[in-house]
Amino acid sequence: MLDFEYHAPTHVVFGKNAVEKVGTLVKEQGCKKVLIHYGGGSAKRSGLLDRVAQSLEAAGVAYIQLGGVVPNPRLGLVKEGIALCRKEGVDFILAVGGGSVIDSSKAIGYGLTNEGDVWDYYAKKKVPTACAPVGAVLTIAAAGSEMSNSSVITNEDGWLKRGLSSEYSRCKFAIMDPTLTYTLPAYQTASGAADIMMHTMERYFTAVDVPMNLTDNLAEGLLRSVMKDVTAALRNPEDYEARAGLMWASSLSHNGLTGCGTDGGDWASHQLEHELGGKYDVAHGAGLCAVWSSWARTVMPANPARFAKFAVNVMGVEPGADDMETANRGIDAMEAFFQSIGMPTRINQMGITLSEEDMRELAHKCSFMNTRKIGKFVPLDREAIYEVYKLASK
Ligand code: NZQ
Ligand code: ZN
Repeated sequence: MLDFEYHAPTHVVFGKNAVEKVGTLVKEQGCKKVLIHYGGGSAKRSGLLDRVAQSLEAAGVAYIQLGGVVPNPRLGLVKEGIALCRKEGVDFILAVGGGSVIDSSKAIGYGLTNEGDVWDYYAKKKVPTACAPVGAVLTIAAAGSEMSNSSVITNEDGWLKRGLSSEYSRCKFAIMDPTLTYTLPAYQTASGAADIMMHTMERYFTAVDVPMNLTDNLAEGLLRSVMKDVTAALRNPEDYEARAGLMWASSLSHNGLTGCGTDGGDWASHQLEHELGGKYDVAHGAGLCAVWSSWARTVMPANPARFAKFAVNVMGVEPGADDMETANRGIDAMEAFFQSIGMPTRINQMGITLSEEDMRELAHKCSFMNTRKIGKFVPLDREAIYEVYKLASK
């Protein structure tokens, strides 16, 4: 096991009706005024926003609201939120929604506490030194932003989707009531589950070859559990135990736990998806499924034994004649699983036909204009990235 630091400071309040505690939790933060930030309408339709507002009022907490966050959240609304919070003297942001709303809230938090254009921090031109406090009422098990140190924002100018990670942005608290996810469309349930799995899979496929028995067991168990739970939740959207399993896995898969003692993981699939999400506005988890097997087939020969372990322990594959064969069976099995939950395993299955020029452009942007390689299992340069997009388009 490699040396590591693990920091998961978010106060989790999990269970049915947990949202009733939101007023007290916000009050404990000692803030003057709260921005309730939300998405395109699901939280309004379900009555969740009213419940949140009532709880804040009962606790005597002043608030204003700003909705309209879209999946692949936009910089434009972030800037609007920053200006509104400055004008209104807001000092706490309460995200009511999924990863997109939480990420938009974190971005507003960065904008309120750091000098200049907030995009400069996402573009890696500057390093943030603070983030205004954010809390979350989670409505979808997926991105894990409720406990992660990340925020991912899309800049409409050039349609660049970029992430910013820092400890300042960890949520102060996360309220997780699995019943809030009963209303999710099946596609979002599946896409969310795929993202949860990918956060652990990115960490599992590391470049280092050190013993990681406990971390591997945690990762493999989480993956088996999510596959079982998402299948059950798709069959019966009101299966509480399945929804609860998914919601807790969303947080555990991206708060660092399943990567302790590794080198931090690969993350190439996420980088490949970010270009698709930025340009074509695809659901994040679906975009990951569309590229994962092409990435896996490209890099697997560098360490077939690792993929064979994954095949046997996660996908339940019978070992073949050698690691290479077992590894390939595992990748096939994961593709079949993604298909079984309605996820794409090729880019064209999302209704996107990439031309040669499109693939070159995506690869160019993904390699930060040919200045970086992505991934650690096998670092991929611009040409290799292009080859993965090409394979994923067949
Ligand atoms: O906007 P509303 O109307 O709420 O609809 C949303 C949205 O259309 C809907 N939804 C959410 N909860 C619902 C619901 N519909 C019915 N009932 C509910 N209870 O679901 C749709 C997707 O919501 P979104 O917040 O976009 O989903 P998700 O949590 O998957 O977040 C995706 C974003 O997070 C980023 C992704 O790139 C993407 O931009 N990520 C953030 C990470 C982080 N901060 O750590 C890590 C991830 O790897 C990821 O990159
Ligand atoms: Zn993700």
